[in-house]
Amino acid sequence: MCGIVGYLGNKQAYPILIEGLKRLEYRGYDSAGIAILNGDLNLYKKKGKVKDLVKSIGGKSTAGTIGIGHTRWATHGEPNDINAHPHTSKNGRLSLIHNGVIENYESFKLALIERGHVFESETDTEVLVHLIEEIQKRDKLDLEEAVRQALTKVNGAYAIVVMDRDNPDILVAARKDSPLVIGIGKEEFYVASDGKAIIEHTKKVVYLKNEEIALLSRKGELSIKTINNDISTPFIQELDIELESIEKGDYEHFMLKEIFEQPKTVANCMRGRINADEGWIKVGGVNDLVQKFTEARRIIIIACGTSWHAALIGEYLFEELARIQVEVEYASEFRYRNPIIDERDIVIAISQSGETRDTLAAIEMAKEKGAVLYGIVNSVGSSIARITDAGSYIHVGPEIGVASTKAFTGQVSLLTLMAIHLGYQKGTIPRSYYLQLLEELENIPGKIEQILKKDAHIKYIAEEIKDSTNALYLGRGYNFPIALEGALKLKEISYIHAEGYPAAEMKHGPIALIDENMPVIVIATNKSIHEKMVTNIQEVKTRKAKVIAIVNEGDAEIKRLADYIIEIPETDEPITPLLSVIPLQMLSYHIALMRGCDVDQPRNLAKSVTVE
Ligand code: M6R
Repeated sequence: MCGIVGYLGNKQAYPILIEGLKRLEYRGYDSAGIAILNGDLNLYKKKGKVKDLVKSIGGKSTAGTIGIGHTRWATHGEPNDINAHPHTSKNGRLSLIHNGVIENYESFKLALIERGHVFESETDTEVLVHLIEEIQKRDKLDLEEAVRQALTKVNGAYAIVVMDRDNPDILVAARKDSPLVIGIGKEEFYVASDGKAIIEHTKKVVYLKNEEIALLSRKGELSIKTINNDISTPFIQELDIELESIEKGDYEHFMLKEIFEQPKTVANCMRGRINADEGWIKVGGVNDLVQKFTEARRIIIIACGTSWHAALIGEYLFEELARIQVEVEYASEFRYRNPIIDERDIVIAISQSGETRDTLAAIEMAKEKGAVLYGIVNSVGSSIARITDAGSYIHVGPEIGVASTKAFTGQVSLLTLMAIHLGYQKGTIPRSYYLQLLEELENIPGKIEQILKKDAHIKYIAEEIKDSTNALYLGRGYNFPIALEGALKLKEISYIHAEGYPAAEMKHGPIALIDENMPVIVIATNKSIHEKMVTNIQEVKTRKAKVIAIVNEGDAEIKRLADYIIEIPETDEPITPLLSVIPLQMLSYHIALMRGCDVDQPRNLAKSVTVE
């Protein structure tokens, strides 16, 4: 949450900062701001998106070769021009951008006010920049040391960049529990919350580690030390992102692009990991830990949001195919519950961004208790990928739309491969079924392709239900997590209240809500409980709801009952979620668009939730 970007070099900073902010906007878009030094400090801040900032700057002076920029997801203080970053110090000499939360800012603020500081904003960030300035002036320190000393006093999470009006040849950057990457050009430096903001300028990067402070100088020198004042050696890596993968191309929205990429991304996730003809699965991280996995007392899967829904599918898969006990946990609950966990447990963290604060904190706790950590992550080099003992990338490429789509199918593909692999190794699935599942997995990209061709039909159904104020999603077995995911997709981008429920559980409460105004989306592709689903649909129809059913091709019985059906190709039950989620993603997309919502940047949300 919040995107930060900085530049120091010989080019004009403004276009670099603005372009970088646009690429980071998925992290938050409540307000945006930039500060550029050119003798004086030019500071521009605006509520709203980066385009609003650009408009408000108009033809004003933006010259300068050093600058910082910020796009905000508000925590302390409402989204407005004043609370927007950068924030400046008392004498206006320092300016600072921040992603994170300074938890003990109130006590510093009171003390600083007593000493004559006046604060304009309600933010924790403004307090930090005043604190740095006070320490710098009081002890006559250089900026880097003042930043270091200030950071030893604060609690919380931060990625910051500080700029000094009186020393326009340096930037100081630091991080703790919020990501920060330094891009190295030719006698120039870029700093950003993630590589997407700088990929068009350089691929050479250093990921700053927790509690490290970097000093970047115009001479092209980079030095890093820890908050405890120990020297660190910068480790230069190559960014593994292609520019086209973070652009919309011919699509109107990133979400649409990412939905339509799924035949390719699911195939990419499975590439080199499966061969049905030769009858093998290789999941790198699992291969190294097969014995640990098969002997584990249980697997605990930790995640948030859509990744949590993927985790639930993982529970069904591991338990059915590999007969391993699984518990699925919301990261935010798990970490504050004093859970019973030890070295006999394997903890799997699932995260698209690899930076979700709650997930990260939960697995740090599990690590302390001795559990083996396994990461299922999309963002290469992210914090969760680095802290886990082993893991697998899902290889679906950068996901920019705030609503997760291709990352979800990547996560589910990976979990499916793992469960089949472990089941076969443990002997809990026979070879014939193992081979059948492998073959079917290889057919999945083609089957997703077939579903995507139904776009016009799904759009037609979207038109029919777009004005609803509520929606209910029902599924059973492997399709229960899909019901949850369908509901989350709808609510987060169209602002229609939606609930996912186990279909049979509906009659224990939600049935009271059903009337002719309630669309009920039923995911009814599991053959083993088909008759039960038919009964559930009848219960809903009797109460006059409009039923939209996702069914296997040729399901005449549900076709007779439902108001609308979306047919999808049949597959083996454990693999169903990879298909049944696709029409729900498409339905949400079209409904949101028809309601005039900002599909890629829905209100109040951010792609990477790096605060608790
Ligand atoms: O990056 P992560 O997978 O850890 O993110 C978890 C959730 O914040 C994320 O899935 C969120 O729920 C999405 N907006 C869902 O579309």
